[in-house]
Amino acid sequence: MSGDEISIVEVGPRDGLQNEKSIIATADKLRLIELLVEAGLRFIEATAFVSPKWVPQMFDHDAVMQGAVRRPGVVYSALVPNEYGARNAIAAGAHELAVFTSASETFARKNINCSVAESLDRFRPVLALAHKAGLRVRGYVSCATDCPFEGEIQPNAVEAVVSSLDKLGCDEVAVADTLGRGSPARVQAMLERVVAKLPPDRIACHFHDTFGGALANVDVALALGVRTFDAAADGLGGCPYAPGAAGNLRTGSLVQHLSQLGFQTGVDIAALNSAEKFAHNLKS
Ligand code: HMG
Ligand code: MG
Repeated sequence: MSGDEISIVEVGPRDGLQNEKSIIATADKLRLIELLVEAGLRFIEATAFVSPKWVPQMFDHDAVMQGAVRRPGVVYSALVPNEYGARNAIAAGAHELAVFTSASETFARKNINCSVAESLDRFRPVLALAHKAGLRVRGYVSCATDCPFEGEIQPNAVEAVVSSLDKLGCDEVAVADTLGRGSPARVQAMLERVVAKLPPDRIACHFHDTFGGALANVDVALALGVRTFDAAADGLGGCPYAPGAAGNLRTGSLVQHLSQLGFQTGVDIAALNSAEKFAHNLKS
């Protein structure tokens, strides 16, 4: 397994910044993206085409997607909750879309104002539009171990949503420890059910790092064959609708950890340090 390539999905510009209270200038968001690209990150979740009434920080999604520096091989994805968001994201030049639902009914209601089943229905036209335009679609499953409202989530609830996203046609499913509370044993129990449904090359792991346990969970996922991990510059992040959710796994920590294990990430750590310093200074 050592020597394998790992795809790091940099979610700082989206998950990282969405939780910042003061509105960050569009030019600063674009500079952060440019620094991340210069550091060698190839998959960047650039913004979210969600309602600005729900997440004010993402108000400039069109300008961010349109203005992000274009380099060969760099893939910009956009988070979208519905067809409206998908149409706008594609028009703005997104290379990939990410839909998002939850293994917890209560979190789905709080975050996207609908049930899990309704969210899946909303994704049908998103998938149709994206695939017609030749774009891949990721499906996120939030609260894959714990929900801020319902507590521990059972692996069978995650498995059911993963199967539904697969049946809808999602190319990749990202399981998310939204709160960063999953222990390695519980993450393993959950991931074993997911790996039984989908090949590991269609699975991504999105670990928030509230209690410093994200890297241990990365190791669990690596052992199960997962090779795609999300991280955010300087560990920015959190979901405004998930009380208790803190930052994502820091990109620099992930890159260093993977490199110590002998994996290839294609990221230049010195250039990444500059990007992380810049990200740090964006924090309010
Ligand atoms: P709603 O209020 O039920 O929707 O929100 P609506 O259809 O009644 O529309 C309300 C207003 O939003 C309307 O505008 C729509 O046009 C507009 P108005 O007529 O009032 O002026 N609208 C939109 N605007 C821009 N883009 C759109 C869009 N859709 C409707 N796509 C909705 C439902 C889903 C829109 C809302 O709940 C929403 O935007 N939620 C997003 C919440 C969010 O972004 N949360 C953070 C991201 S998820 C996350 O962080 C977790 C993750 O990282 C994984 C993990 O860690 O767990 C992915
Ligand atoms: Mg997240």
